[in-house]
Amino acid sequence: MSQIKIINVVGARPNFIKIAPLMEEIKKDKSFKSLLVHTGQHYDLAMSKLFFKDLEIPEPDINLGVGSGSHSYQTAKIMMKFEKVVNLLNPSLVLVVGDVNSTLACSLVAAKLGVKIAHVEAGLRSFDRSMPEEINRVLVDSLADFLFITERDARDNLKKEGIPSSKIYFVGNVMIDTLFKYRRDAGKALIKKKLGLESNSFPYALLTLHRPSNVDDRFKFYEILDALKKISESLPIIFPSHPRTKKQIQVFGFQKFFDGYFSSRGNRIGKKGIYLVSPLGYLNFLSLLEGAKIVFTDSGGIQEETTFLGVPCLTLRENTERPITVNEGSNQLVGTEKEKIIKTAFKVLDGGEKRFRIPKFWDGKASRRIVSILKDKLS
Ligand code: UD1
Ligand code: UDP
Repeated sequence: MSQIKIINVVGARPNFIKIAPLMEEIKKDKSFKSLLVHTGQHYDLAMSKLFFKDLEIPEPDINLGVGSGSHSYQTAKIMMKFEKVVNLLNPSLVLVVGDVNSTLACSLVAAKLGVKIAHVEAGLRSFDRSMPEEINRVLVDSLADFLFITERDARDNLKKEGIPSSKIYFVGNVMIDTLFKYRRDAGKALIKKKLGLESNSFPYALLTLHRPSNVDDRFKFYEILDALKKISESLPIIFPSHPRTKKQIQVFGFQKFFDGYFSSRGNRIGKKGIYLVSPLGYLNFLSLLEGAKIVFTDSGGIQEETTFLGVPCLTLRENTERPITVNEGSNQLVGTEKEKIIKTAFKVLDGGEKRFRIPKFWDGKASRRIVSILKDKLS
């Protein structure tokens, strides 16, 4: 019997976390031959290689090395290079995850060459087309043959766009599969020790920001930092900063908001203030996430991880494509207005946490369900 050849695609940070459990599961079954293509959308050590190490992802078979650029430049460059790969390898399936430019570019190539596409994390919608990821989501879902969804609302979104039910599979959340597997290892990560938090003696908050709508907009970025500065008078805020964000801090001259910039060697943080650190590897980040009193973010994945962990999360956006994290989880949408951020944060810190439950199928078995469906349908 010939093997089912799958090309798995990754490009940007959240992709690595999603592909890890899928590749592990695919590898267990000899019906599949699995290959990994990295587009090179993210390339810094701390945005890419660290995750391969932490999550035991095999080295990519091919790295397209596209790097950064405008949306069209990046998407087109990935397409030109990925087309050659698909022609050379002739796979039965291209498997894409999430909503980044690499996800769209590789889906377009596969669709044009008549290769089946599996989209993991399909059907999420923010209904905000000014968000580049929303365009990617809608287009990828319209091209995919297998749409694997993380929450029930996604099915309605897809059906409204005319996607037949027969293509949609409710399987759960692969990002939570990874969290399940590595939670214990994260407990041994060194970051808390490096920052002087190992004794758990004082509470801290964790912050991530990288959406262009927040960090490329001077006024909004200022408003957010101004609110956080106020909150940081009550507890220190640790801010692993994405390269886009780090660049914008320089461009806008916002260094004044920070009380320190720590290298990966670390340093003890104080009981007040905002502390910038480099982007963290998965285990270090998860260790900080789990211990945080409150999390401020505009990330998609972090809204899900905090929901699973039951850590209060304030999402600094007006909308979310992951409504289940608000309806069932520990997430609250607070937007970007200073007073609202401060008021909601102090409500949480004063003990006004909302009730939450873990969404259905966020149980560490999503990848297993996906691989079993693919085997059944492609054999
Ligand atoms: C991308 C995704 C976003 C995802 C995020 C995860 C798209 C449209 N956006 O946004 O959905 O949430 O990744 O982190 O695909 N840079 C570096 N080193 C790197 C990577 C990027 O310095 O390794 C800098 C470059 O200046 C680059 C900028 O960050 O221009 C933005 O990178 P890019 O991949 O275009 O978008 P992200 O903001 O990372
Ligand atoms: N993450 C990490 N280190 C960091 C920041 C985030 O390991 O310094 C992880 C986080 O736990 C989650 C994923 O990266 O698993 C989310 O990626 P990101 O916020 O870049 O993208 P998004 O989910 O918004 O697309």
